Parts: sequence; structure tokens; C-alpha cells
Amino acid sequence: MNILDIGIDIVEIGRIKNALKNNDNFLKKLFTEKEIELFKEKGYAPEIIAGNFAAKEAISKSLGLGIRGYDLKNIEILRDKLGKPIVKTHNNLEKICENYNVLEIKVSISHGKDYAVANAMTIIKDK
Ligand SMILES: CC(C)(COP(=O)(O)OP(=O)(O)OC[C@H]1O[C@@H](n2cnc3c(N)ncnc32)[C@H](O)[C@@H]1OP(=O)(O)O)[C@@H](O)C(=O)NCCC(=O)NCCS
Repeated sequence: MNILDIGIDIVEIGRIKNALKNNDNFLKKLFTEKEIELFKEKGYAPEIIAGNFAAKEAISKSLGLGIRGYDLKNIEILRDKLGKPIVKTHNNLEKICENYNVLEIKVSISHGKDYAVANAMTIIKDK
């Protein structure tokens, strides 16, 4: 087991509030159906949505790629029974992760009144 890299991101919750108000397609463009179900369960709380968005960007950095060769909907961040974020990859990103020998992507999310932050770590197999 080895660490490929780590990543971090910070998101202004106000920007998410504006996007929710002004762009009908915002959620569908960036989040999977299961993530949108999660947001619904949480009353579409902007800090939860901001946290998931920050987590996706943090993950993109922990791969060393940024958002390249895949899109944000290829990253899905759900929660386990205790509330811990769980990362799944889909489509192009699933293939990229196979090529990189990724075992697991870990992410941690936090939010205050104005900002949400996330950090991520990508774990790969030993060579
Ligand atoms: C990498 C990326 C996720 C950064 O997100 P952002 O919201 O723009 O900026 P942030 O402030 O969160 O992060 C910037 C930091 O990301 C880090 N970063 C940049 N590229 C990175 C990469 N490939 N892997 C890991 N970290 C990276 C750098 O440390 C940068 O800080 P610096 O400019 O002081 O060195 C984003 O720019 C991206 O996906 N870029 C690739 C695709 C692209 O170029 N799109 C532009 C339109 S085509």
C-alpha cells in the first residue's frame, strides 16, 4: 500500500447558494443521482452540497490530475451509516484509477458558516 498523493479544496458556501438559486441544472450537472438523493435527505443544505463539491476537487488533486480526462460526475461521494464520506468512481475515472492501481480514495469534509473544506488521499497498490 502506498500514497499516490493528497489533495485539499475550499468552497464558499454562498457561491453554492447562488448556484442553487440561479441555475436549475446545477445539481444535475455536477452530482450523481445518488448524491442528489443524499442532498434531498439533508434538505438540500448548501453546506452539504459545498462539502461534496470540495471533496470532488480535493480528490482531483489527490490524483495529480485536476479535472482532466473525466468529469465531476465520475466522482460520487456518499455517506456510510455513521456519516463518514465514502468515495466511488465511475466511467472514465474508474478506468484512470485502474491504470493508476488505485486501491481506495479517502476523503474528509468539514464546514463552518461560510466555507466548506475537504481533504483527500489516494491510496495505490505497492509496485
Ligand atoms: C487543479 C484544479 C482542481 C484546481 O482547482 P481551482 O479551484 O482552480 O483552484 P484551487 O485554489 O482550489 O487550487 C489551486 C491549487 O491546486 C494545485 N494544483 C494545480 N494543479 C494540480 C494538479 N494537477 N494536481 C494536484 N494539485 C494541483 C496547486 O497547488 C494550485 O495552487 P498554486 O496555483 O498556488 O500552485 C483545477 O484548476 C483543474 O481541474 N484544472 C485542470 C483542468 C483545467 O485546466 N481546467 C481549466 C479550464 S479548461
